[in-house]
Amino acid sequence: MNYRDRAKQSSLRAKEEHKAVLRDFIQIRGVFDLRMRQSFSPCIRIKQRTKNNAIIAIGAVVIGGAVTYSLWNHFHPEETPSKKAAVPLKTGGTSTLRQFDLSKAQLQKMISDFQYEMDVGLSRNGGKTSLKMLHSFVGKPTGNEKGAFYALDLGGTNFRVLKLDLLGNGKLGASEKQQFEIPQEAMRGGAHDLFDFIAGCVERFVLQYNGPTDPSNTIKLGFTFSFPVNQTSLAAGTLIKWTKGFTTEGVVGRDVVALLSEHLERRRLHIEVVALVNDTVGTLVAHGYTDVNTELGVILGTGTNAAYAEYTHNIKALESPFHREKMIINIEWGAFGDVNDVLPLTSVDKKIDQNSVNPHNQKFEKTISGLYLGEIARLLTLELAEEGTLFVGTDVKTSNFIKKDSFPTATVSQFLMDNSDQLSDIERVMLNQYGLSTSRRDRALLKEVSLAVVTRAARLSATAIAAILHKINRLSDATVAIDGSVYEKIPGFKVTMENTIRELYPGSSVKTELARDGSGNGAAIIAATV
Ligand code: GLC
Repeated sequence: MNYRDRAKQSSLRAKEEHKAVLRDFIQIRGVFDLRMRQSFSPCIRIKQRTKNNAIIAIGAVVIGGAVTYSLWNHFHPEETPSKKAAVPLKTGGTSTLRQFDLSKAQLQKMISDFQYEMDVGLSRNGGKTSLKMLHSFVGKPTGNEKGAFYALDLGGTNFRVLKLDLLGNGKLGASEKQQFEIPQEAMRGGAHDLFDFIAGCVERFVLQYNGPTDPSNTIKLGFTFSFPVNQTSLAAGTLIKWTKGFTTEGVVGRDVVALLSEHLERRRLHIEVVALVNDTVGTLVAHGYTDVNTELGVILGTGTNAAYAEYTHNIKALESPFHREKMIINIEWGAFGDVNDVLPLTSVDKKIDQNSVNPHNQKFEKTISGLYLGEIARLLTLELAEEGTLFVGTDVKTSNFIKKDSFPTATVSQFLMDNSDQLSDIERVMLNQYGLSTSRRDRALLKEVSLAVVTRAARLSATAIAAILHKINRLSDATVAIDGSVYEKIPGFKVTMENTIRELYPGSSVKTELARDGSGNGAAIIAATV
């Protein structure tokens, strides 16, 4: 094929792509986005004015580039350097989708509400707050802690036991880990089912990596228990309520360290539970061990929450003594919005809440965390189908898509990653999993739904992070340590979060970093301080 044919062919391909894009924009949005028109029109004009083949070729390349760029922007507004990165969605078309688009003004209002509720929570002065600001009795680590320590980490669908060598000087040594899936009867049964299961896993692990324990060789263990707990000391705390789908009976109101110790003793294990740690606290400590600029520990996984270090003299509600300058506070931000009407919730969020095992609880968590994002996308898709925007002529109600929780958060990520021209991954999933055949327009809209849900989650979590950093005056050179599949696995989540923080506080320099396994490692480090 000669140069001229190649130019002609690429010009034709570009034209086709251009038409497809216009079709989508016209169909999905109803109107042409002005910015898109501006970016296309110079290229179109160049092409119309000239008959010179060389210029046609250049025009084709420019059009191809503009099309690719526009498509990229369309589907990845969060990944475009500088430009729209901070702008949430460009979703137009239906008001159902637009509810998910949060303005800067809405986020700024959320910052002041969040900071107000943090203050009320710290002082417990009788004001209304959903932020519990729980006391951890843990300070920031020094990095000098040394030795081999054990931890167990209970907080989501999995449960981990680990052994970690601390080398001092901010260095972590070797670690051993084992993961166990929590059986349904332990999550939904009685206290004995859950704690006996945990003690059994610990026994297996300790026998393998330490050998039998005896009174002269007692093991110190940090217990990461990632639920809201009222702590009265480092190793005592009562469960306030379950979150994340747990409903085990007989645990709320009881000291979870005592429950665990009792079940370890029954197995004649000489293990002392020396610290009770929330996963956010563990994440902050683990990352802070190696990076002194770490200001926040955040979890964006099955649940969501954050911890930061507060001056002890500001914690007016503190009833037991604590002798360090700062104490780490477990904010329990997942409950934000439970008491005051501070969240811009949509019709979909209301359904999620009503259908959950804990209605009226954890409203912020229900807009952000991995337990809910897939379900939000599914319900939003159903609303669009009902109003006739999507799946026109197809009866969705007879498909598997109608089943609660049938659309996992991992599929939301998969849809976002489908950059093929025909969105063929989305096509395959919809057909194979749900028996639904889709038009290309349906698929483009399904991708928009995923983007809308995920972008909102990233912007909401970034706003809470910005609120805390602003409150403690650490908007420059701060590291935010984050663990969890939502942050780690959803494409563009990190970039959207960081850009949102910059949008809210221009000139700030905040970086977010993955702190994998921070929750368990942190508990081992805290155990080392005892
Ligand atoms: C839930 C828990 C909280 C935990 C978070 C992340 O929100 O209540 O304690 O930190 O999930 O796992």
